[in-house]
Amino acid sequence: MITSAHIDDIRTQVRAWRAKGETIAFVPTMGNLHQGHITLVREAAQKCDHVVVSIFVNPMQFGQNEDLDAYPRTLAADSAAITAAGAELLFTPTPAVMYPKGLEQQTYVEVPGISNVLCGASRPGHFRGVATIVCKLFNIVQPDVAFFGNKDYQQLLVIKTMVEDLSLPIEIIGVDTIRENSGLAMSSRNGYLTATEKAAAPALKKAIDAMEKGIKQGESVDAVTEQAKASLVAAGFTPDYLEIRHAHTLEVAQRQDQALVILAAAYIGKARLIDNLRFDR
Ligand code: PAF
Repeated sequence: MITSAHIDDIRTQVRAWRAKGETIAFVPTMGNLHQGHITLVREAAQKCDHVVVSIFVNPMQFGQNEDLDAYPRTLAADSAAITAAGAELLFTPTPAVMYPKGLEQQTYVEVPGISNVLCGASRPGHFRGVATIVCKLFNIVQPDVAFFGNKDYQQLLVIKTMVEDLSLPIEIIGVDTIRENSGLAMSSRNGYLTATEKAAAPALKKAIDAMEKGIKQGESVDAVTEQAKASLVAAGFTPDYLEIRHAHTLEVAQRQDQALVILAAAYIGKARLIDNLRFDR
């Protein structure tokens, strides 16, 4: 695999593939890769002739008191894993490459509305950072298709909206969440969990599943949400949000809405975990 921190190297390689009429898939990541990421790379390799992966811990999407410095950097293991999964080009820029003028002077991309609710409300500026870096990476790699995990449901909607609003000629594919046997969604942040917290963490998925069941049995949104929050607190979580929203707009679900998504974020120990379930009423 070719690895480079330089924009020109990535452009040169992609141009050479394009000149032969070959297609490019892209998987942007922040590294510390797990089976969820590897699944994205495998799906990408099935869909296109070449797979480009980026690893960049993007400072613009972290808040002041978040885990930017602590975020695990595991480049050697990541590189081996994505090579085995079919990636051929790895872009590993530094912050100076991506933001040469610093964050304050950087032009940014802001997707209004859906960026400001749920994770966007808890993490102000987070989705501006995500949209900006993904837009820059798209402009560097210029893929035909890009792959993202459905676990970051709101992020996926923000990116789809950005692509549509800015008329970017890129197909966005969301890939199902990969879970541990316990049901816990795979996440780089699971590495922050102690053994006790990891044993308690599947309660997040269980709470979401119970909400879906309650709604399908005709219980009220308020009732199922209160029960689920109580179950999370009993398991040792501090819930951030637990909500049922319209699956496409992320607006608060109305009685007549069919396409729904349950979205949850909760703290346990040093980790803030998120999960979701898309379902039809
Ligand atoms: O999901 C992630 O890992 C990041 O938010 C992304 C999309 C790579 C942008 O930094």
